[in-house]
Amino acid sequence: MSITNKKPIDKRNDVFSAMYDNNDIIIKVVDKKEKATLETLKDAKFNNIVKIYNIYTYNDFFVKFHCDLSIIQGIIFKQNILYYLSSFVVIMEKLNTYTDKIFKSETYDNKQYFFKELEKAVNQIHSIEIYHGDLKLQNIGNINNIIKIFDFGDCGGIKNKDTDMNDFNKLKNIYIN
Ligand SMILES: Nc1ncnc2c1ncn2[C@@H]1O[C@H](COP(=O)(O)OP(=O)(O)O)[C@@H](O)[C@H]1O
Ligand SMILES: [Mg+2]
Repeated sequence: MSITNKKPIDKRNDVFSAMYDNNDIIIKVVDKKEKATLETLKDAKFNNIVKIYNIYTYNDFFVKFHCDLSIIQGIIFKQNILYYLSSFVVIMEKLNTYTDKIFKSETYDNKQYFFKELEKAVNQIHSIEIYHGDLKLQNIGNINNIIKIFDFGDCGGIKNKDTDMNDFNKLKNIYIN
């Protein structure tokens, strides 16, 4: 099985969209902390959290898929070789993402549905003491009419239940009124 059609997202060199085994996927290079959270979420299989297919060390990923060097070059350029050596590569499902403009044009009912689902997503991660820490429209997507959250890069540290509830309420105020 191979990864094809790999394209950087927003000119970044650490997040790519691609095809794998006929599925649309996202490939993201993450650090140890984000990887640990994603491992937990991969096993938890929550309905409203992005589906994690696989997590590799950077080296295993490179050997398995013979992917070109663009990720490595990007990391060396941005960070350093040690960062690259201790990075992980996550393969996850690709969601449909939102823009401010598209979301604002949704019907009231759809927006209500979105926030109900988002609340479920937040409750799911909180049930295992994971706090997202960066809930915003850009980190939320949908697939088959299911709303899901992604981007766990800001988990941990001083992030807590209140951080997420504040972000949730902020979002609701922006889009529901
Ligand atoms: N599972 C996904 N499905 C669709 N797009 C994604 C997915 N993961 C990341 N992206 C895209 O890549 C961008 C950056 O990824 P993200 O995980 O949010 O990293 P960052 O921590 O840098 O914000 C997102 O804003 C989104 O456009
Ligand atoms: Mg993000």
